[in-house]
Amino acid sequence: AIDANFEQNREIHEEENEHGVTVWGPVDPPEQLGIHGTHVAVDFDICLADGACLEDCPVDVFEWVDTPGHPESEIKAEPAHEEQCIDCMLCVDVCPVDAIDVDSG
Ligand code: SF4
Ligand code: F3S
Repeated sequence: AIDANFEQNREIHEEENEHGVTVWGPVDPPEQLGIHGTHVAVDFDICLADGACLEDCPVDVFEWVDTPGHPESEIKAEPAHEEQCIDCMLCVDVCPVDAIDVDSG
């Protein structure tokens, strides 16, 4: 499962990627892609492209992005619109591999 304390335990790899999302390392593509997002965080190294988060999010926070060569899946759920999140926690509940952390604190 994603480390809920990633903000303490990881370093920022990239402040804003091409989708405006912060990436937390370590990152070593294509096999290691880190955690994407801060308020809505997806561990790209755990995500296996189940898609429930994209289907269920009521405000369309997630977008598919291509991750060719990653061992778990070659697409991932990017929290490209995390600022729209309403903290419903549905995505956290439906992800079968617990790849998502939402900091509703
Ligand atoms: Fe979307 Fe709810 Fe997850 Fe926020 S907590 S990203 S609103 S499903
Ligand atoms: Fe990935 Fe979990 Fe969504 S596996 S696509 S983060 S439901």
